Amino acid sequence: MAENETNQENHGLQEHRVFPPPSGFAANAAISGMEAYDKLCQEAASDYEGFWARLAREHLDWQTPFTNTLDESDAPFYKWFADGQLNASYNCLDRNLLNGNAEKTAIVFEADDGATTNVTYRDLHQRVCKFANGLKSRGIKKGDRVIIYMSMSVEGVAAMQACARIGATHSVVFGGFSAKSLQERIIDAGAVAIITADEQQRGGKSLPLKAIVDEALAMGGCDTVRDVIVYQRTKGNIAFTEGRDIWLHDLVGSQSTECEPEWVEAEHPLFILYTSGSTGTPKGVQHSTGGYLLWAALTMKWTFDIKPNDVFWCTADIGWVTGHSYIAYGPLAVGATQVVFEGVPTFPTAGRFWDTIAKHKVSIFYTAPTAIRSLIKASDVDEKVHPKNYDLSSLRLLGSVGEPINPEAWMWYYKNVGQERCPIVDTFWQTETGGHMITPLPGATPMVPGSCTLPLPGIMAAIVDEAGADVPNGQGGILVVKRPWPSMIRTIWNNPERFRTSYFPEELGGKYYLAGDGAIRNKDTGYFTITGRIDDVLNVSGHRMGTMEIESALVANPIVAEAAVVGKPDDTTGEAICAFVVLKQARPTGEEAKKLALELRNWVGKEIGPIAKPKEIRFGDNLPKTRSGKIMRRLLRVLAKGETITQDISTLENPAILDQLKESA
Ligand code: PRX
Repeated sequence: MAENETNQENHGLQEHRVFPPPSGFAANAAISGMEAYDKLCQEAASDYEGFWARLAREHLDWQTPFTNTLDESDAPFYKWFADGQLNASYNCLDRNLLNGNAEKTAIVFEADDGATTNVTYRDLHQRVCKFANGLKSRGIKKGDRVIIYMSMSVEGVAAMQACARIGATHSVVFGGFSAKSLQERIIDAGAVAIITADEQQRGGKSLPLKAIVDEALAMGGCDTVRDVIVYQRTKGNIAFTEGRDIWLHDLVGSQSTECEPEWVEAEHPLFILYTSGSTGTPKGVQHSTGGYLLWAALTMKWTFDIKPNDVFWCTADIGWVTGHSYIAYGPLAVGATQVVFEGVPTFPTAGRFWDTIAKHKVSIFYTAPTAIRSLIKASDVDEKVHPKNYDLSSLRLLGSVGEPINPEAWMWYYKNVGQERCPIVDTFWQTETGGHMITPLPGATPMVPGSCTLPLPGIMAAIVDEAGADVPNGQGGILVVKRPWPSMIRTIWNNPERFRTSYFPEELGGKYYLAGDGAIRNKDTGYFTITGRIDDVLNVSGHRMGTMEIESALVANPIVAEAAVVGKPDDTTGEAICAFVVLKQARPTGEEAKKLALELRNWVGKEIGPIAKPKEIRFGDNLPKTRSGKIMRRLLRVLAKGETITQDISTLENPAILDQLKESA
């Protein structure tokens, strides 16, 4: 594991400000006051299975009730509620029709150009049923994998729900990934169909989707794919392959608005979502139906304190786990009204978020620190887009997700967006955890900027050393979860061994879930602060990327001999990608270096996707290596930050190289 470089101030470890939950909030909250929180924690501690069984019975509708709560016989391949049967789409849609929410707005779709469409629970149910029948008409069935490569849309959510309805396992690929990334995922998942759109509309521009699907399929190896279903969004010009491609409107046109849900066992894989690890290709994180949905619904109630009249808005994309749990499933499972946003935060102006909150009277707003930091900058430059110019009085709760929120950004969010009235839930979790793990409860937990505070009831988070022994509060270590929980990753698709070694390493005793983050608990309060990844995973704008993936993309270019990628702190994006590259030709300088750096950035964009483009590229004749040939990444991290190397470099084979690598191209 790489060393855990902690910038104490940045992570708020020196933070002394405490913000108790506003009293009015606590009075009506689902979990009101720390006594209520403690009581739930005690319930979990005294009867772990009983606690989860109670919650699963209270918060989900089961077609066949489960009798077996947790099966640990094949650990770490844990099974939850395994003999129970249910359907996720039934829990998100049908039960809302049965409990009086049929005419309630499920989705307020805010298009890129500001057009709004309201979709009721009844409408959404009908759309999903038609979609599901359409999928069935093409022979897609329970257990099949379907890739969804779509922009933010009602149809994107409906596609996920339709797969769930028929028991097909979906794998959403973020619309910003390249053809090559898409192809890799299609092959690994063995997908039988792809659901996409002609184009996506973002920031006033039309960007290709279907053309990228065509390109991915043309790369070969995707023989399992029989159907490409295309939602017509922009009416842009696209190629059509007869027999394989079908318009969504043609597929669903004559389908019935009723579709009996396919009852699946609780462990049935609801979805696979690819995410980056420290080595190799992206991992297909496999989630279950029962345990996953339970936590998506329950965290809507506990963390977001969702109430019938709330308007919830999570700004994530359905291509990420946040968009799965807090757009496609969680809000619908609790019958909430939510905004689904197609656009970008800076179009037509950097006031778009605030304007949209005012327009739809959003009461719960959930976004990423990167977005907050970039909007702080924008409003510093242009006073007109400052939140004070918008009516944000509908807000009652704010959330943050995806990366550490620095105390200054937290304070700005608290003062200017929440107007010191709204608690902030800084939710720590991961693709693998399915839902929130460590977060304040808005009606209970006193908040400290920069700290995600305490684990949710039932989540046995702890900090241990490299041998798996508990470390005392005040001392940093490795974040683990000591007991399995219902919404945890079940396996890595096609790679159970990688699942076991990545998440349940023998060094920690083989029983603790290894999150991959470092953390420290406050001496007095026991609050957790996440200090960053302890592996070679970067977090750029809340997007997770493996340094190895970017390195592999770089060396795949014929001019590159060797590459090493590290993260460097960035004021806006949290971390930025810095690549050190050795070319097969002589080390370029000046204009040539600039030209080649641009070429390589675009190359990485093509290989992985624009989000993986290095912000900086530095060329050297070699990389700093030990005598045994190992790249000394810790030195590269210091160089990337622009700092002077004070560490011991006696094992370094080629110290002269360090000077070359100080300057970016
Ligand atoms: O490093 C942690 C960081 O994001 C990683 C998980 O990334 P991903 O699987 O893409 O899921 C992001 C959305 C849940 C974690 O290992 N992270 C996420 N939330 C926080 C965070 N770091 C600090 N504070 C958070 N609230």
